[in-house]
Amino acid sequence: MAKSGFEREERIQFDLPEAEFSTLAVRSGQNRTMEGEHSDAIFPTSSFVYSSAREAAARFGGEEEGNIYSRFTNPTVAAFERRLAALEGAERGVATSSGMSAILSVGLSLLQQGDHIVCSRSVFGSVISLFDKYLSRAGITTTYVDPKSLDTWREAIQPNTKLFFLESPSNPLAEICDIQAIADIAHGVDALLVVDNCFLTPALQQPLKLGADIIVHSATKYLDGQGRCIGGVVLGSHQLMEAI
Ligand SMILES: Cc1ncc(COP(=O)(O)O)c(C=O)c1O
Repeated sequence: MAKSGFEREERIQFDLPEAEFSTLAVRSGQNRTMEGEHSDAIFPTSSFVYSSAREAAARFGGEEEGNIYSRFTNPTVAAFERRLAALEGAERGVATSSGMSAILSVGLSLLQQGDHIVCSRSVFGSVISLFDKYLSRAGITTTYVDPKSLDTWREAIQPNTKLFFLESPSNPLAEICDIQAIADIAHGVDALLVVDNCFLTPALQQPLKLGADIIVHSATKYLDGQGRCIGGVVLGSHQLMEAI
């Protein structure tokens, strides 16, 4: 008789070192359970169980890696993070509850009082509210620039500029920026470039390859593709994602 998942000794996993984008889009990041399921398993659980109080203590104390609570880690969310990281060519991704919370996480984690953002004026309206109404309360200021004019990006730089932010194409005007050139300007003053890649998705544009440091997505749009979910993700290096 065929062995059930409970009797199996090893998980069935595939390496995808040379896989094409379309294969990565359906396979990367999947961590099959012992049942050997074809599609991604979904783990609707808030918390997890342990074989002993000692194991629970080690997990909660950070001495042992593993799931403790789904706000921190959840296998379904982790598969989404690994898959988006594979598609964008990022070292790591951090999933968020929406696109706006992805952008908020970047602001709260990487900026502090007195810092300055240079932002394209052609961005989703809630981003402007977030920067002007909320981050401003923490003493973080923003200058908005014409995304197509490299001179305006340069002229907006202040001694305290820490972050550049753009969407390309933008919502709703579909304005396009020269991501590589803007990354070079940002890096010239040791600022980070954050690109909202919501509209093209990694299928059509991979901003890290163009010099961006961080990508944010509203997964609510094309990444979901069916109008059923609200979600977001931040992607970049291990070091930056650790802060996020
Ligand atoms: C380009 C862009 N970024 C961010 C957001 C915010 O994403 P969410 O609605 O998932 O919070 C949107 C939403 O329309 C958007 O169009």
